[in-house]
Amino acid sequence: MTADRPFAPPAGSAPRPAGPARPAAGCPVLDPAGAALHAEAAELREQGPAVWVELPGGVRAWSVTRHAEIQALAADPRLSRDHRHWPDAHLAPEGWALAPFAFQDSFFNTHGAEHRRARARIAPAFSPRRVELLRPHVRETAERLVGALAALPPGTRADLRQTLSLPLTMTVICDLFGVPEHLRGALGHAIDTLMDSSLAPPAALAAQAELAVRLAELLAHKRAHPAADLTGDLLLSAGPDGHPLPEPLLLGTLFAMVGAGYETTVNLITSAAHELLTHPAELARAREGATGWADVIEETLRVEGPVMHLPLRYALADVDLGEGVLIRKGDPVLLGFAAAGRDPRVHPADPDAFDPGRPDKSHLAFGYGPHFCLGAHLARLEAETALSTLFARLPALALAEPDRPPARLPSMIVNGPATLDVVPRPLPAPEPDDRPRPC
Ligand code: HEM
Repeated sequence: MTADRPFAPPAGSAPRPAGPARPAAGCPVLDPAGAALHAEAAELREQGPAVWVELPGGVRAWSVTRHAEIQALAADPRLSRDHRHWPDAHLAPEGWALAPFAFQDSFFNTHGAEHRRARARIAPAFSPRRVELLRPHVRETAERLVGALAALPPGTRADLRQTLSLPLTMTVICDLFGVPEHLRGALGHAIDTLMDSSLAPPAALAAQAELAVRLAELLAHKRAHPAADLTGDLLLSAGPDGHPLPEPLLLGTLFAMVGAGYETTVNLITSAAHELLTHPAELARAREGATGWADVIEETLRVEGPVMHLPLRYALADVDLGEGVLIRKGDPVLLGFAAAGRDPRVHPADPDAFDPGRPDKSHLAFGYGPHFCLGAHLARLEAETALSTLFARLPALALAEPDRPPARLPSMIVNGPATLDVVPRPLPAPEPDDRPRPC
């Protein structure tokens, strides 16, 4: 990552002007704003194990939306996340809205032994044992945030995403990486903006440049104020090879870790709260303990996976998926992680319905194989703490507009409600007026 062109394609390839990369005749176009992610995935799933689609910026890739194929390809060493394995990377347009994911300099986008080495540097910090040590901090933060909601005057509305899900997940990941309070707002805003995959090239370029400024600011602060946090211990210190991370990788890794740390779990918590508030019988069962919070969370991960796509993978060899579908060496591939949980081949009974009591809640919301999410334990801990605290402390919590579904995030990367307006302490319902009325 460099300040002037933070998410440029690999060196040596010239960017081409905005516009379709290849003619897209007959190729379904994915909605860059992800307005109907599940419906779109359901259509593609019926068309085959992988389908050529057009992504934002006119880039074409194979879309994979069936559970079995997502799982197989995520674990297949013939697919790489390293953009140096994409022969057409230079065809991605200048100001491509997906560049922050596909061209990010971080261990997310490495392959094979290089990936294993880089992941091993970070992974111990997110082991179940280390995450368990965070429980009191997560609990305390959730109680403080829910306490503020409980203190609102009766009848007041609040956006649950902004008042609980976001500050909880942002606080935890920023505390872990030592992001100082005064830089959090601007950094968070810059990362949020990049999740909008419908940004036109000038807006995408501006958002990418803004992120580069915020990350450089953060790095300068961390260098000037060394501290015993994950940035100091894992990123700024020398690695097992005796060398610190090169600066572009350092900036990219900070972006990847802070972004992955909250942009995902914020949606898990908000979606789970929305599901419960629109399924009162399920909420009652969860409150009584008849259904565990863990079941609610797994079912939310299945039905509303917080990450739909994390572009891209590239075939290192031809991969035959059967049904006449051959992914050729060099082809880009997009896995639909949030689509897997709704695959009727795995969940034949009402795959789209929210039912925490269903015995099989299998999903691929955290991915699969060597890139399986490092933050899965942390995400589950945060979600369980947020939901149990919220619904214990606010027994009458209700949606502010029960008949209006919340707007969705404008993204084909992340999946979740853009806002979730609730009334933490609804006003008591007026007494029925049974006095005789004048005619
Ligand atoms: C509900 C919350 C979350 C969801 C749904 C989620 C989803 C995912 C998915 C689908 C992948 C795999 C990407 C791929 O194979 O292409 C992934 C990877 C990753 N996630 Fe998460 N994530 C969540 C929370 C977190 C948190 C809290 C952290 C931070 C600690 C985190 C850190 C990572 C990292 C570091 C990777 C990359 C691992 C690698 O490439 O080896 N995630 N996540």
